[in-house]
Amino acid sequence: MRARKADGHLAPAMRPGRRKDPLIKPYVKWAGGKRQLLPEIKKCLPENLGRLRYYEPFVGAGALFLERQPRRAVINDNNGQLMLTYKVVRDHINELISLLHLHKASNSEEYYYRIREQDRDGEGFAGMSDIQKAARLIYLNKTCYNGLYRVNSQGLFNVPYGRYANPSICDEPVLRAIHGYFTHETVKVEILSGDFGIAVETAGRGSFIYFDPPYHSPGNTNFTGYQAGGFGEDEQRRLRDVFVARTDAGARCLLSNSDTPFIRELYSDNRFEIIAVKAKRAINSDGAGRGDVGEVLIRNWR
Ligand SMILES: C[S@@+](CC[C@H](N)C(=O)[O-])C[C@H]1O[C@@H](n2cnc3c(N)ncnc32)[C@H](O)[C@@H]1O
Repeated sequence: MRARKADGHLAPAMRPGRRKDPLIKPYVKWAGGKRQLLPEIKKCLPENLGRLRYYEPFVGAGALFLERQPRRAVINDNNGQLMLTYKVVRDHINELISLLHLHKASNSEEYYYRIREQDRDGEGFAGMSDIQKAARLIYLNKTCYNGLYRVNSQGLFNVPYGRYANPSICDEPVLRAIHGYFTHETVKVEILSGDFGIAVETAGRGSFIYFDPPYHSPGNTNFTGYQAGGFGEDEQRRLRDVFVARTDAGARCLLSNSDTPFIRELYSDNRFEIIAVKAKRAINSDGAGRGDVGEVLIRNWR
């Protein structure tokens, strides 16, 4: 028997749960995407994850988030164009799918460069609707070289055309399944776009945070693979401070990063467990480092 509140309605915590939808997976390919590492990550999750509020402040394509499909979540990335696509999948799925079908029908090298150029015209770009911007990002992501989202120092998307024989520009079943998840009556996902520190400020006891930042890359101080700006050692230190602050606030925290002496030293606090894992990386800064690379998962409980 499920508990009833005084007004006769089922207590929210006891409402029949939504089943996880196995169709759901990332709808964009993203540098640092975690699909390869998922089996290792899943071994390190807290047992009571289903009862915790889920935070992912560097969500990217959301491999873990979309696999878990948590009921209460906060997702964030400082890439505003990417986070806009999540909102459009939630709020305007039919219009988005129509536009993606149009892009698919028009796809060619010449068309790709025409769409890519749209962000060169500041005013024109600002005048585009959110739905048009989201469809543009997904289209470019599916057809660009290596599926690597990269902008130049002015923040302009600058990846060349990928020449795929049959790119799946509109994966309609996956997009509709994600829309169904976001809009399910038992689900509440907050979609933010800002700095990681702000996104997790409300996480404390009863919360779980998965931090998947741009990885520490000692030999390469400039490349982040994502956007202008960068994520150097100062940022890694700032992230460690946030990890410690959220630990003190009682949140369960899990973080992935590369296995370097710098990272091991940063997280040498004896409340933290460092677990070495191996993962295959599909996207790398220069392609030279493809293959097995050492990574660590760091968690604040044992
Ligand atoms: C390793 S990727 C995350 C990959 C993701 N877990 C996935 O499965 O696709 C790191 C992400 O951090 C974002 N990022 C970089 N600096 C950030 C910051 N200061 N605050 C929030 N997000 C940031 C990047 O835009 C990128 O999407």
